Amino acid sequence: MILVTGATGQLGRRIIDQLVARRGGTAGIAASVRDPARAGELAERGIDVRHGNFDQPDTLLTAFRGVDKLILVSTDGPGVVRIAQHQNAIDAARAAGIKHIFYTSFIDVAADSPAEYAAVHQASEAALAASGIAFTALRNPLYADFLPMTVAAAWSTGTFQLPAGGGRASFISRAELSEAIAAAALAPALARTVYELTGQATHDYQEVAAAVGKVTGSHVRYQPISEDAYAQSLESHGWPTWSARALASMYSAVAAGKFDRVRNDFALLVGHPPRPLACLAQELFGKH
Ligand SMILES: NC(=O)c1ccc[n+]([C@@H]2O[C@H](COP(=O)([O-])OP(=O)(O)OC[C@H]3O[C@@H](n4cnc5c(N)ncnc54)[C@H](OP(=O)(O)O)[C@@H]3O)[C@@H](O)[C@H]2O)c1
Repeated sequence: MILVTGATGQLGRRIIDQLVARRGGTAGIAASVRDPARAGELAERGIDVRHGNFDQPDTLLTAFRGVDKLILVSTDGPGVVRIAQHQNAIDAARAAGIKHIFYTSFIDVAADSPAEYAAVHQASEAALAASGIAFTALRNPLYADFLPMTVAAAWSTGTFQLPAGGGRASFISRAELSEAIAAAALAPALARTVYELTGQATHDYQEVAAAVGKVTGSHVRYQPISEDAYAQSLESHGWPTWSARALASMYSAVAAGKFDRVRNDFALLVGHPPRPLACLAQELFGKH
């Protein structure tokens, strides 16, 4: 039995779809969700839907019963909360006798990273290593799906601002990441503990602006700003402080080169490389 947490989330439901497609059916696939009432569509398709909340460890012991492989989708929230939630899930997995955990980690897990996200994923990978359970860290780069939100200010001002300096990152869609995650979970054996699911190339945000401009025919400009100015701007648009600060610090990590990595691990799992930025831009901005 394979169980996917966060199955009512954007990545989790795509992982379920990929598992079903690769397996040719829903047998042996389970989902744990905070609110089963939101998982009606999964249950109707034959997915074994269970209630599991990382803040309520008792629910996890029941949710993880009979599961061999756990796809642990990382949560969102303040860093200390996420670290505790992931630890609760790992502890419950051990108590339930789960044999292998596949964890959706992040490309930036550097000890000297300025990003709060890096500290979360570093702590959770360390907790997995300490658990004694076999695990695979599937380190995701930046979701391409967020590019429309990232550049949105350019539609009114011509410019989008980020504290990413001249740093480079790669982008993959959630749809493609879910293919790689499902492929890893269904593989009879894996050669590595860590897979870095990067794109084929990294890009700075001038290149992102150019790719978006080419598809839309608009002049799109990228302007670096400070981490503080960016966080304040997000807060002024209603973002909670923890979230604004965490995202801003992630872009500082981009500026510091922490996302400037290219690996072939996606192709090792899926059999072909992920789509390049020009293709993603066409899909995301082609109808703009
Ligand atoms: N690589 C990137 O660029 C990037 C960007 C954003 C986020 N992320 C990370 O990737 C994860 C998946 O992304 P996504 O787009 O699928 O996010 P999402 O749609 O917000 O999904 C997050 C999932 O985590 C579940 N969750 C939250 N708190 C939980 C708890 N206490 N117990 C059990 N489940 C809990 C949510 O449950 P509900 O469905 O009940 O809300 C949701 O299903 C995020 O949570 C975050 O850690 C990565």
